[in-house]
Amino acid sequence: MAELPHNPAHSNQKPGQLRSRAWFDDPSNADMTALYLERYMNFGLSLEELQSGRPIIGIAQTGSDLSPCNRHHLVLAERVREGIRESGGIVLEFPVHPIQETGKRPTAGLDRNLAYMALVELLFGYPLDGVVLTTGCDKTTPACLMAAATVNIPAIALSVGPMLNGYYKGERTGSGTIVWKAREMLANGEIDYEEFIRLVASSAPSTGYCNTMGTATTMNSLTEALGMSLPGQAAIPAPYRDRQEAAYRTGKQIVEMVHADRKPSDILTREAFINAIRVNSALGGSTNAPIHLNALARHIGVELTIDDWQTYGRDIPLLVNLQPAGEYLGEDYYRAGGVPAVVNQLMQQGLIHEDALTANGKSMGENCAKLTIQDERVIRPFDQALSQSAGFSVLRGNLFHSAIMKLSVISRDFRDRYLSNPEDPEAFEGPVVVFDGPEDYHARIDDPELGVTEDTLLIMRGAGPNGYPGAAEVVNMRAPSSLLKRGIHALPCIGDGRQSGTSGNPSILNASPEAASGGNLAILETGDIVRVDLRKGTVNVLVSDEELAKRREALEARGGYGYPASQTPWQEMQRSVMGQLESGAVLEPAVKYQRIAQT
Ligand code: FES
Ligand code: MG
Repeated sequence: MAELPHNPAHSNQKPGQLRSRAWFDDPSNADMTALYLERYMNFGLSLEELQSGRPIIGIAQTGSDLSPCNRHHLVLAERVREGIRESGGIVLEFPVHPIQETGKRPTAGLDRNLAYMALVELLFGYPLDGVVLTTGCDKTTPACLMAAATVNIPAIALSVGPMLNGYYKGERTGSGTIVWKAREMLANGEIDYEEFIRLVASSAPSTGYCNTMGTATTMNSLTEALGMSLPGQAAIPAPYRDRQEAAYRTGKQIVEMVHADRKPSDILTREAFINAIRVNSALGGSTNAPIHLNALARHIGVELTIDDWQTYGRDIPLLVNLQPAGEYLGEDYYRAGGVPAVVNQLMQQGLIHEDALTANGKSMGENCAKLTIQDERVIRPFDQALSQSAGFSVLRGNLFHSAIMKLSVISRDFRDRYLSNPEDPEAFEGPVVVFDGPEDYHARIDDPELGVTEDTLLIMRGAGPNGYPGAAEVVNMRAPSSLLKRGIHALPCIGDGRQSGTSGNPSILNASPEAASGGNLAILETGDIVRVDLRKGTVNVLVSDEELAKRREALEARGGYGYPASQTPWQEMQRSVMGQLESGAVLEPAVKYQRIAQT
């Protein structure tokens, strides 16, 4: 089929001119120019402003009542506007499809790609020369970055910042992490329902996102480590005055970036991603990070695979002492120096590509050269790390092509129980109990008939991007209450879903391909013995290839593993085009659209 020419308003940008001029100041297209102008003037912008040639800057607003983690951006945007105005820009603020990690049913995993796709349309289709991405709650950050990557107009991220520290009876309570602890206490009869709610709520004392090193703190820290925000801003707690100042400076910076034509493709290089992988290990960052960074790399066109996380990240030590891997919370992280202090430590070991360009036009090395640790209890010097080899182990075997395990959260207790075999100190094996999705797990985990013992491996399948759909954060399963009562908290879990970044469970997760997309987890049976060898990076079910082939045949005869019917149009549409977790779970047909503002 012959291709028709594009709408001229999108393609007549003159070299050296801002793209917004094609809307607001194009005598060769007077009809359309008049139409665009009159409507943007109708709320008070003047002809003079719109035709001045001043950059038009978007504020991609992710805050709303539906997304409380990001809601404070509604306040911060005022300071962003002041920064933009003061530097000569004109502001157009607009909403981004809201995503709330904890509030969205069946899972917020559905929404990252939806917000991405919608934001691509806004950044491409409207007269924007640059954009401030207001990031925060888990998937809002990758959704915004991915869209900026695809469109490739100058873009800078502003984190909303974590909540203040939570406390309960004098102890720090970290968001998310306390939920996993509290549900064990409730199951064990140590607290009642009312205290359970009070305990969990204590971890959310102010505006902002999760104050632990969950996916939100991880992704905002990595955004900074990638160079996509101002240095030092990711860790500032939401209510602090410094956060308002960062908003103002971010507004000023984006105008400079537009004049310099500094685009995501200049910043998001392979070196920048490797920096981020290493920083992630030092942070004890979320297992969602590989999904989101691999997705971002695909949209900007940088080669990055799940194996890079092992190659560059596995052997980096844990430096940041934040829950769930450590003890502190967001305020402590900021006071200890935040991301620059971590980068600075890695720089001293030659582990950072210092030349990587950042949003402010300086290199990562220049930004972080003088920013040292301010509190060594919270951010450890490299030679006093909390643990060695704290990155992700990438595992393979006859159950999946890849899965990852977060080594920084394996507890001493777990090591002693499972990894202390003197002949094989990094291997463990045991019989599995298989659950088909989170509902099955919740219904049966405390059933004595299951026969779960301290040697059992718990399996969660049907929780991947097609199975759930969107991939649920459910692989971190608690032990049955009978074991909790005996003081056994952590059983190894394996699954094709995700796990909350706030969980410290020893899980092997993000297994790809998932059961619902042909993965062998679908033919695993309760009672099978699975062997995990962390040193070799293998996970294998100890049944013969013939037996696996027979089970595979029987599965195919039943029509495959299957998954529940879609409940919404988006669930159905996304299922037909979404890839697996190891390659970013992106909308596969979107990947070929790159740097589209330049076409
Ligand atoms: Fe939004 Fe954790 S639920 S950041
Ligand atoms: Mg989460």
